[in-house]
Amino acid sequence: MAELIKIFDTTLRDGEQSPGATMNVTEKVRIAEQLEKLNVDIIEAGFPISSEGDFGAVKEIAKKIKRSRVAGLARANPQDIDRAWEAIKGARHPMLHTFISTSDIHLKYQLKKSKEEVIKIAARSVARAKRYTPNVEFSAMDATRSDIDFLSAVCEAAIQAGAITINIPDTVGYAIPSEFGELIRTLRQKVKGIEKVTMSVHCHNDLGLAVANSIAAIQNGARQVECTINGIGERAGNTSLEEIVMALRTRKDLLRFESRIIPKHLFATSRLISKITGMVVQPNKAIVGANAFAHQSGIHQDGILKEKLTYEIMTPESVGILKTSLVLGKLSGRHAFRDRIKDLGYRLSEKDFQQAFDRFKQIADKKREIFDEDIESIVVEEVLRVPRRYKLIYLNVVAGNVTVPTATVQMEVDGKLLQEAGFGDGPVDATFKTITKITRTKAKLLQFAINAITSGTEAQGEVTVRLEEKGQTVIGQGADTDVIVASAKAYINALNKIEFKKQKLGV
Ligand code: KIV
Ligand code: ZN
Repeated sequence: MAELIKIFDTTLRDGEQSPGATMNVTEKVRIAEQLEKLNVDIIEAGFPISSEGDFGAVKEIAKKIKRSRVAGLARANPQDIDRAWEAIKGARHPMLHTFISTSDIHLKYQLKKSKEEVIKIAARSVARAKRYTPNVEFSAMDATRSDIDFLSAVCEAAIQAGAITINIPDTVGYAIPSEFGELIRTLRQKVKGIEKVTMSVHCHNDLGLAVANSIAAIQNGARQVECTINGIGERAGNTSLEEIVMALRTRKDLLRFESRIIPKHLFATSRLISKITGMVVQPNKAIVGANAFAHQSGIHQDGILKEKLTYEIMTPESVGILKTSLVLGKLSGRHAFRDRIKDLGYRLSEKDFQQAFDRFKQIADKKREIFDEDIESIVVEEVLRVPRRYKLIYLNVVAGNVTVPTATVQMEVDGKLLQEAGFGDGPVDATFKTITKITRTKAKLLQFAINAITSGTEAQGEVTVRLEEKGQTVIGQGADTDVIVASAKAYINALNKIEFKKQKLGV
């Protein structure tokens, strides 16, 4: 039987310590609700004494969250503990988390306290927290650079005072897996009463080892992992929740542990955090990066199309990503190209397919990545020679914070020049409304996304829109250095696709 590993999420506390990741109360509550949906065991909602804003956010989260425990962080002093309790006391399952440093470096330069004093403060703080709630966690900050006998003595004092969780942080991300595993094993042997409490670990990623260290700790007796979505957190961040959860799941043959996390919510949660914090997920990030399930090489693409197991150790669907993506480029073969054409909704004769494939290879020699927009233009304009019904001729937009956004658009529709002007809530909205007026179309905009495909303020922006009409959805793409023009191109591209489907495919 697999043993349970508790997932303690600290995205809202340590994660918020990432430079630039400050969130407001509404955003924090939204994240907490998503974390509860993901089924994390504990949500560390914040550090209530650090600011009025944090206090308010923790209080609000405590009111809203019903299933997960809600933890508030407090240094080992009465004011912090009382304030943290004030913030979390409304929670159905509150938890107080108090900490003090145990390394010689921190004692000498930061706390300026003796070892004896630190032991007393740890015990006193846990006892004070315990008066409020039985759920008290104690952390020995900078544990991995601490003297093991002293660390054991502090943990023992915290357990005697009533802590039910003892957390061992690698605060500065200094440990390596074999060493960290050994530390956890030694503490389990040395510390009296440790068998009665949950051992937790909290690893930072300064050497890129946070997930590996957490796994080593689990293999040596830790039963709780502190982590954050997308691995955000102080400096290089913390153990990434999605990585540790999927490592346990994917390698359950070796790691006989499981968590309560519902993995199909991982991708959406990652995107939500990225959107709110403005911290972009690197494309090659494990589990949730844009390339995590994207296969570029022809050999890999061929393998994936024959049998996914060839190059995928977990399915994209299991983490909530809808589909494996094959990035088409010059290394792609016929198999991947045929598959993409089918996905885009086109059925080609062998002769037409060959013509499209030859053209694709010519373009791929010049362009690093071939977008769906390129393939569609090969198929529709060059192979099937279907005239595009709608063309953008001219676009002028007036916008700003003192004027009503207005768009003037000139288009060619079935060979005729038409022009209109219209207002909107913003420049993109005004543009789309005016295009709709000219084309008299009824499509509904389902999704709109902008992506910078080159860097700098003069970057090429790529816009993707998803439109729906009578149950049919199409994706339109457009690229330009002006994002409003890119948006107009994407919208018109999607309208042409709807037209094409209606005329040629009868859908
Ligand atoms: O990194 C650390 O030591 C912490 C503690 C407060 C647990 O974040
Ligand atoms: Zn930390």
